[in-house]
Amino acid sequence: MHVTHLSLADFRSYVRAEVALAPGVTAFVGPNGQGKTNLVEAVGYLATLGSHRVSSDTPLVRMGAERAVVRAAVVQGDRQQLIELELNPGKSNRARINRSSQVRPRDVLGILRSVLFAPEDLALVKGDPGERRRFLDELITARAPRMAGVRSDYDRVLKQRNTLLKTAALARRHGSRSGGGDAALSTLDVWDQHLARAGAELLAQRLDLISVLQPLADKAYEQLAPGGGPVLLEYRGSAGEGLAGAGSREELYELLMAALTEARKQEIERGVTLVGPHRDDLVLKLGRLPAKGYASHGESWSYALALRLASYDLLRTEAGEPVLVLDDVFAELDERRRERLAELVAPGEQVLVTAAVEDDVPQVLAGTRYAVSEGEVRPV
Ligand SMILES: Nc1ncnc2c1ncn2[C@@H]1O[C@H](COP(=O)(O)OP(=O)(O)O)[C@@H](O)[C@H]1O
Ligand SMILES: [Mg+2]
Repeated sequence: MHVTHLSLADFRSYVRAEVALAPGVTAFVGPNGQGKTNLVEAVGYLATLGSHRVSSDTPLVRMGAERAVVRAAVVQGDRQQLIELELNPGKSNRARINRSSQVRPRDVLGILRSVLFAPEDLALVKGDPGERRRFLDELITARAPRMAGVRSDYDRVLKQRNTLLKTAALARRHGSRSGGGDAALSTLDVWDQHLARAGAELLAQRLDLISVLQPLADKAYEQLAPGGGPVLLEYRGSAGEGLAGAGSREELYELLMAALTEARKQEIERGVTLVGPHRDDLVLKLGRLPAKGYASHGESWSYALALRLASYDLLRTEAGEPVLVLDDVFAELDERRRERLAELVAPGEQVLVTAAVEDDVPQVLAGTRYAVSEGEVRPV
């Protein structure tokens, strides 16, 4: 697939931007702070309903403006669709498909699929488990857009359950056996089931994803850094050891229910849910060691790139070419990795690159050039 037109209004630093795009490589070049990343961030937002740089929508709306609008015309095969998102921080966002009346923002998912490489990706390897969970869950949603619903169900149930646990914890601390505490405890069983149901679905998808991603990540790492692997992706679940053996969603459900029962006392003491996909991690191993804490800077970069390349490979085979976005990554890499990465992404149907200087864009990525300066995007 590819984007033929990108349109921004009050998004980040842009009052307005209208950018015509074509298949093949397009590079946005310009000094730092001029709005290059802001452009491709909008593409990423349309694909994932989130930014790769911030977790809330507020910074995405131009300072002083009330709302932002991002719009893209997306072509897949012989089908063109226009998607539009209106960001209203503090209120609910709105969405439209083909200028029709409102749809839910999550209905837009799947129309534009993209894989975004960015300097922030290093945190996949070096950062907290939350970074890796987000990586898994975004890819799950790109493979199966209905998972957006499961993810938000899970988050909602988790929040409710935590509130109940806090109430119970508070009542216990104050020695009251009556009122709020007992009521909270009696509804907890129901919430356990809700949590385990959505949790099992999320877990099943994560485990399936990891099993198909594993060989692709290993292959990509070998292409980037021959002889440096092997790469091993290991899921570490908070629900205990049985995870690897559990095949079906029902087994995962039972496993989560059992783990919740076991953790119940401790959860009430601490007032927080200790079991579930929100507490899990993906351990990235290089050879026999975890990459986090052991891998060199260069190895960590290769690992992060390998995960993105594997994502690209997977989406391409399962659902057709996603749009590739490489935000300022070439400047971060040594010559060898830079060339290898460029060769691997060059055949992509559409590749959007940002760079501070022209020389950072490898030769094989010759293509259309835009100069980005002071919020103006001009063809060169
Ligand atoms: N919500 C916002 N409102 C106004 N300006 C913003 C907003 N968010 C970011 N900016 C500005 O955008 C610029 C950064 O743009 P960016 O695309 O990251 O630059 P680069 O070209 O280096 O990739 C900064 O100058 C920042 O102040
Ligand atoms: Mg940038």
